[in-house]
Amino acid sequence: MGVMKILVTGSNGLLGQKLVSQLSRGQMEFLASSKGENRNPECPESRYKSVDICDESAVVELVRTYRPTHVIHTAAITNVDVCELDPSSCHQVNVTATKYLFDQSVEINAHFQLLSTDFIFDGIQGNYKEEDLPNPLSHYARSKVMAEEILKSGSYTKWSIVRTIIVYGLGNNLSRTNIICWAKEALGKGQAMHIIDDQFRAPTWADDLAWACLKICKLDKIGVFHISGPETMSIYEIVERVAKYFSLSIDNLVRTNSNTLNQPAKRPPKTGFDLSKSRRELGYRPMKLEDTLPLI
Ligand SMILES: NC(=O)c1ccc[n+]([C@@H]2O[C@H](COP(=O)([O-])OP(=O)(O)OC[C@H]3O[C@@H](n4cnc5c(N)ncnc54)[C@H](OP(=O)(O)O)[C@@H]3O)[C@@H](O)[C@H]2O)c1
Repeated sequence: MGVMKILVTGSNGLLGQKLVSQLSRGQMEFLASSKGENRNPECPESRYKSVDICDESAVVELVRTYRPTHVIHTAAITNVDVCELDPSSCHQVNVTATKYLFDQSVEINAHFQLLSTDFIFDGIQGNYKEEDLPNPLSHYARSKVMAEEILKSGSYTKWSIVRTIIVYGLGNNLSRTNIICWAKEALGKGQAMHIIDDQFRAPTWADDLAWACLKICKLDKIGVFHISGPETMSIYEIVERVAKYFSLSIDNLVRTNSNTLNQPAKRPPKTGFDLSKSRRELGYRPMKLEDTLPLI
């Protein structure tokens, strides 16, 4: 295997930051990129380039100048309700810009890895395998199905798709929080939380996800991989378990459901992944929720 050079998009995001940390620690060659200024103190300015991936000529310049062997494409509009209310921006960033990056990766024969989501499924069956059929319920979910199709439908074979579920962990200057950090903070302050008990997910420790993304690159694995935490539970149970672990009162924790909450984007009731393939092919061993909480 030759020397790997990894281009990470979305390096200001939670997963992007974990990828940068692991690449730095492993003394690997990388270039990190996001739309805004570098907000990740662990990423040296010399390894950062601000690029709006919706600007095709900027993407061409970025990829052709750096010439990565691997592109890990985490950048996206990840807020599901924002996507529902602004489907055109969602399509532009999540689909069109993915095509720009993919096309340039093909040009230089680089491995292209796309981050995708459990939301591509309708959430009826749950415990999804890589080959289960997508049935997206929202604009965000459809944008990810279309992005996946860009990779799958061509004749280029050096690609991977990593689907994941509720990613959590600590980062620097993140633009959004996650349910686990939010629960710890809000319940710690005695704030009320209205949490749904009719949607089921397998929360994913961001460091485990970053590890799996890099493992796929190192092994040059091709195809789809499901990467999540090991346990599927209701969102309510996630919050309840965080409260219990940190001995926080649940007096202000209020049970609600999807109908009452009525968010703009429809969400799948029950996801969760069958992790057999990732365990077998990558040696993936995800941390249990309670084992990650001391690190939060
Ligand atoms: N978080 C989850 O629970 C979850 C679940 C399933 C799948 N995923 C997928 O996993 C991936 C990573 O998620 P995440 O939570 O780490 O994301 P995140 O924290 O929301 O970060 C998204 C990143 O994308 C960048 N970005 C957005 N628009 C851009 C543009 N036009 N040009 C360049 N960069 C742009 C942002 O850069 P700036 O900050 O500089 O604007 C930001 O760094 C995403 O593809 C997401 O769809 C996430």
